[in-house]
Amino acid sequence: MDELIMAAKHARTKAYAPYSHFNVGAAVRGASGKIYTGSNIENASYGLTNCAERTAIFKAISDGERVLDTIALVADSKDPVAPCGACRQVMVEFGISTIIMANTSGKTHMVSMAELLPWGFEKTDLPGEDKNNE
Ligand code: THU
Repeated sequence: MDELIMAAKHARTKAYAPYSHFNVGAAVRGASGKIYTGSNIENASYGLTNCAERTAIFKAISDGERVLDTIALVADSKDPVAPCGACRQVMVEFGISTIIMANTSGKTHMVSMAELLPWGFEKTDLPGEDKNNE
């Protein structure tokens, strides 16, 4: 847990957030045990912003991971912030089980994926898709 939070804290220093000035860092552990980090990346076309969580997840997947374990995110907020809906949906796709939210002062909050996104839409909901179809 501490290792992931530390990695997310470091990733936060690389955020590209010139519009919101809200820097976020994330770190996710893949099934291989390797940790992947990411920060939020904003754009002058605001809607194209990529959250820190999705940056970390996409880095892991593009490096060959297919199943992810735990993700941590860190922001400079009074209380730890929760991932947005888009990130929750992406987390479900890759089997993330645990989400650790932390702020820069060290306050943490840990929840399960089921708590964060009950009734999520998954690949097994698609006709002809199953868990072996990766
Ligand atoms: N943001 C994240 O990166 N992760 C979150 O969990 C919440 C929001 C980013 C998106 C945007 O760059 C900034 O925070 C303000 O919404």
